[in-house]
Amino acid sequence: MRRKIVAGNWKMNTNVAEGVSLAKDVVAKLNEVPQDVNLIIAPPFTHLVSVAEAIKGSKVALSAQNCADEVKGAYTGEVAVSMLQSAGCTYTILGHSERRQYYGETSEKLVKKMRLALEAGISPIFCVGEMKEERLANKHFDVVEAQIKEVLFELSAAEVANVVIAYEPVWAIGTGLTATAEQAQEIHAFIRKVVADKFGAKVADDMSILYGGSCKPSNAKELFACKDIDGGLIGGAALKAEDFIAIAQSY
Ligand code: PGA
Repeated sequence: MRRKIVAGNWKMNTNVAEGVSLAKDVVAKLNEVPQDVNLIIAPPFTHLVSVAEAIKGSKVALSAQNCADEVKGAYTGEVAVSMLQSAGCTYTILGHSERRQYYGETSEKLVKKMRLALEAGISPIFCVGEMKEERLANKHFDVVEAQIKEVLFELSAAEVANVVIAYEPVWAIGTGLTATAEQAQEIHAFIRKVVADKFGAKVADDMSILYGGSCKPSNAKELFACKDIDGGLIGGAALKAEDFIAIAQSY
């Protein structure tokens, strides 16, 4: 079943105490969020265990922002999916454009990460999206299709059924520029079609596809009203419980 999801990507923000306090603020406002809206928060690795405790027993799910492409061993600085699982994560963001751009995240690595996460019962929030020049050159459909083919097409339909896709145009992330609802809907529908052509209509229909990129309380309503937009991956606005909750009220 396709689900409404609002996920907060905290990126490299907050210290542990601030993170726990933000998580508690979100939990305290849960009665303002419609029942059928699923909330996910993705704090930095250092915060996971403490934030898991803060959201315990609530409907907020815990996500990591990345995971290692190896199971365990001599990989200094990396965090394995089994560790995320033991910290209480049920999701992990993978392929965020900041990781692709600044940390050399390739599709090849992403396939390994996606498989490991799925094997551990962790649902990837798989990010795709074009750069500004690619949008201007009208290449956004090709870019997004290639990102999906290079990674998702390496997985089985059963695996893909547990993936959430986040479409995040790079030019809209943290810039204050948002894709218009028409632009976003157009590419979300395209993504669903690419998934349907490969994995069948049921997998595509059931898949949640989130929009990300300067999504905030003032524009979430228009975006979430679109047929193929099932929610948002929220960066900046997820750092304020009030705004994050307001976005979750925007369906
Ligand atoms: P933003 O970030 O909402 O701050 O633009 C979104 C994201 O990168 O996930």
